Amino acid sequence: MTVLVTGGAGYIGSHTVRLLASQGRDVVVLDSLELGDKSRLGSVPLFQGDINDERIIEKICRKHNITDVVHFAAYKAVGESMDQPLRYYNNNVAGTIALVRSLLSNGVNRIVFSSSAAVYGNPESVPVTEESALRPESVYAETKSVVERFLSSCDAIGLRSVSLRYFNAAGASADASIGEDWSMSQNLVPLVMKAILGFSGPLNIFGNDYPTPDGTCIRDYIHVDDLADAHVKALDYLSTGGKSLACNVGTGKGTSVLDVLNLAEQVSGHKVPYNIVGRRSGDPISVYADPTLIRALLGWKATRDVRDIISSAWNWHERDAAAKR
Ligand code: UD1
Repeated sequence: MTVLVTGGAGYIGSHTVRLLASQGRDVVVLDSLELGDKSRLGSVPLFQGDINDERIIEKICRKHNITDVVHFAAYKAVGESMDQPLRYYNNNVAGTIALVRSLLSNGVNRIVFSSSAAVYGNPESVPVTEESALRPESVYAETKSVVERFLSSCDAIGLRSVSLRYFNAAGASADASIGEDWSMSQNLVPLVMKAILGFSGPLNIFGNDYPTPDGTCIRDYIHVDDLADAHVKALDYLSTGGKSLACNVGTGKGTSVLDVLNLAEQVSGHKVPYNIVGRRSGDPISVYADPTLIRALLGWKATRDVRDIISSAWNWHERDAAAKR
């Protein structure tokens, strides 16, 4: 079994590649390096190229005898997606269609897809189960939802897929060697670290008048290495005959924005400079997963908590900031 990881030089991709390689599994990466960083890959073979390029997919499949794919390669900036629908549909949707066409014509019929809890939009109730209505609220989320449906339709032509609906991925590797570059992200945890380390002004907290215990929004933060493990479990599920499926990947626990700041202060020993500003448009109040399905079908559960997430992120960002100064 050799696994092709598209977008393997990105944040979640590189953690997954590293986990696969550490388990002695054969893995190769296809990444355009538009947003990825090859230094994250160590000695894992890298093909620099595009998922739309049938020739490169064929070459990789033949040369490495690919049996399985984990597909991360996509654009993921929610705000940008609203201004650039063509670019997002072209890369995330048309790119996936081209990839699947090439894979099937090379005899590869198992794929794990990097989806998002953003497919649920602002959920009617929490915890969010897979039965919740899909109401994507951004072009980015639409592309994830459309690809999920496309993959599920391809069951009829022999493809089997697992779509993993990530909640809020965060944290870094335990050895602080790879993590989430804040220049590539608008997500809370890297921005908290950026503010603590003095690489930005105070963090803007988007609203503290929500109907939650401390007034700030609640999310389900999931450690990137737990998320990586969900991909490995999904590959094993498919290779042992599992049926196509879409499932949540979250811890089931909600954490508020202020909880994240408090933990970051405890872990780093520094104050987080912040301002309370107005609500960010489209932010759901509270989103956390019901992870029952993934536990039952893939045997996966999160093993790290939000303190592990914040402390691993702090260790990585402190080191990365020292290199940036
Ligand atoms: C966002 C995306 C989602 C994507 C996910 C992971 C939106 C609406 N959703 O989720 O599609 O899958 O990232 O990449 O953008 N916050 C602040 N100040 C900041 C940044 C964030 O207060 O500077 C708050 C937000 O209001 C939110 C929480 O922190 O309550 C988490 O925000 P963020 O990390 O951007 O993730 P989501 O919005 O949950």
